[in-house]
Parts: sequence; C-alpha cells; structure tokens
Amino acid sequence: MLCRSYANICDGGWTELCVLFKSGLINFRMVDVTEKIDSIKLLLISDIHCVGSRTFAFSRIVGEAKSTEQIQKDLAELLGRFLKIVDYVLIAGDFTDNGRTDQYEAVMSVLDRCDPERFCVVPGNHDTANFNNLESWNVRMRRFKKYMREFLHETNTPESSKEYFPYIRELGRGFALIGLDSTLARSAMGQLGMRQLDMLRWFLTTAEYKGKHKIILLHHDATGNKKIFNGFEIYYGNVLKDKEEFVDIIKAHVERNEGGGLTIINGHTHLKLIDKKSIPGANIFTVPSFGSRFEEDCIAVELFQDGTFRELEYYAGNVRTRLLKKYGKFVFPHTHT
Ligand SMILES: [Fe+2]
Repeated sequence: MLCRSYANICDGGWTELCVLFKSGLINFRMVDVTEKIDSIKLLLISDIHCVGSRTFAFSRIVGEAKSTEQIQKDLAELLGRFLKIVDYVLIAGDFTDNGRTDQYEAVMSVLDRCDPERFCVVPGNHDTANFNNLESWNVRMRRFKKYMREFLHETNTPESSKEYFPYIRELGRGFALIGLDSTLARSAMGQLGMRQLDMLRWFLTTAEYKGKHKIILLHHDATGNKKIFNGFEIYYGNVLKDKEEFVDIIKAHVERNEGGGLTIINGHTHLKLIDKKSIPGANIFTVPSFGSRFEEDCIAVELFQDGTFRELEYYAGNVRTRLLKKYGKFVFPHTHT
C-alpha cells in the first residue's frame, strides 16, 4: 500500500495522499533534526509566598508581593500553559508566607486540580522555619506534609524514612531526582543534616542510578556565594549551614565522571540565576520568586541526559520594577529574617 502510494505521490498523486492522511493510514510528526532523544522538560517554580487572608506579606518589606487572588490566577494560567509542554513541575518551597492554614488552602485550591504525579515539591523556611520556637516548626512541618501529602513521595531505600525527606524519584528517560528538606527550625538559613547528606551521597554513588542525569531539589541557595535577596545587595540567610559538606559531595560526584548530568534546583533568594561555573560539571538553577513582581515567574527548561540544557521560553508574568529594588540596599542594609 505504502509503496503504491509513494509511487503515486512521485507521479503527482497528491489527491490519494490526502485521502490516506484523512483516513489515518499515514501518520507522522514533524521531527526537529536538532532534537536529542534523552531529555526531560521541567517547569521550575519557587517562593510563591501566598499570604492567604492576610494583607501584609514578608515580601512587601523588600518588594512588591502579589495578592492571593493574583497568585491563584497567575498560577492557574502558568500551569494551564506549561502542563501541555513539560513533563514535570518542580516547586522549590516557600509555598506560603507564614505556613498558615488559609495560605495553604489558597495555593492548594489551584494545585489540587493537577495530577500530583507530575509534581515534585520540597518545603521552604517560610513554610516551616521562620518562627522563634521549636514547637512552631513541628506544627508547621506537619501542616506542610498534610497539605502536600499527594505531592510527596515515600522512598524505600537505605537511610530513607516515612518522613518523606529525602525522597528519590525515577523520572524516566534516564533521569532521577532527590528531594531534600533544607529548612532549619527558627532560622531563615538552611541545613541538610547528616542523615540527608548520607542519603545524597548514596544517591550519587549507588549503581542503581549510575549514568542517570541526577536532579537535586532543595529550597536554599546551594552554593550561597551571593548574599543577595530580591535584587538587593543585602545580607540574607541564603546559605546552607552545611554547604561545605554538600558542595564536597557534589564535587566528588562530578570528578568521578560517571556519565549523566547533575542539576541542582533551588529557590529562596528570589533572584533568577543559572550558574554553570560555581561547580564545574553541575548546573545550578536558582528559581525566581513566583509571588514577587520583580522579575520572571519561573524557569522552563529542557535537560538533556548528557548534562546540557536549554531554556524553553521566556515567561515574565506580571513583572514590575520599582526604584526600591535599585535603592533598597540603602534602606535595608542589614536585613535578617
Ligand atoms: Fe525562603
């Protein structure tokens, strides 16, 4: 049939070709010759900072925060657009501004309409840690797990626990992800702790994931070189307390050169940064704040199995720039949260 059709096409038999298309006997898609097969497309979101029924937001101290209604509208629009394009959505924490019930409910009213299998999430300091007593951290961590239950994934591997973190997920096509909880009670700074660092080391060295492109998702700035928040040159607790151990584990993995890429994804600093230099061989994506209007809302990226990547498209959202961004360092020179 196909040989006859080809002959007819060569003879100018376009009418018959159209019939075959319409009948579904011929089907093909346009192939981009530059397309690499082993890739995964991700939408990266962070620092939504939903204020719920409150009118005051932490982000308003240093910038312009979106209202709850604006966050719900923008988030629904963003997901509606990108869930058709990407394989997974990764959210790097600070869903809420204070970890309050009404703030989770406002965010989840949008997320609960989505398939949780396509999401990977971790908590941020504003969800669990920015409160000056340990009990608050415990209460808020339980609340995070309750609201995110469908979006979290238990891992049945050494050093894992029923506490969700760290969790490991096979994403398919030669990609695997580890989700870490970097929040530290009573602090805006982060800490992974020995148990999670051991699990990270295991994830990067076990034969089970050898050769895969490994993705590390956490809230805090993985390298902590830039003491910049929301575009200000101000001190902010944007580092991991155990960043030396974390970076040593990453560098050791890169030096082993076992194939497959390594990508670290974090939020927290409210400033978009794509960094390939701090740890040669590793991609570090610092995701901008979705709840702020200072810059883009997200990063959309295609990762390739060999460690390379390309940004999918520019998505600015409702961006505004204010003088405060430029001159804020003179107003808040030593902001701590
Ligand atoms: Fe944060």
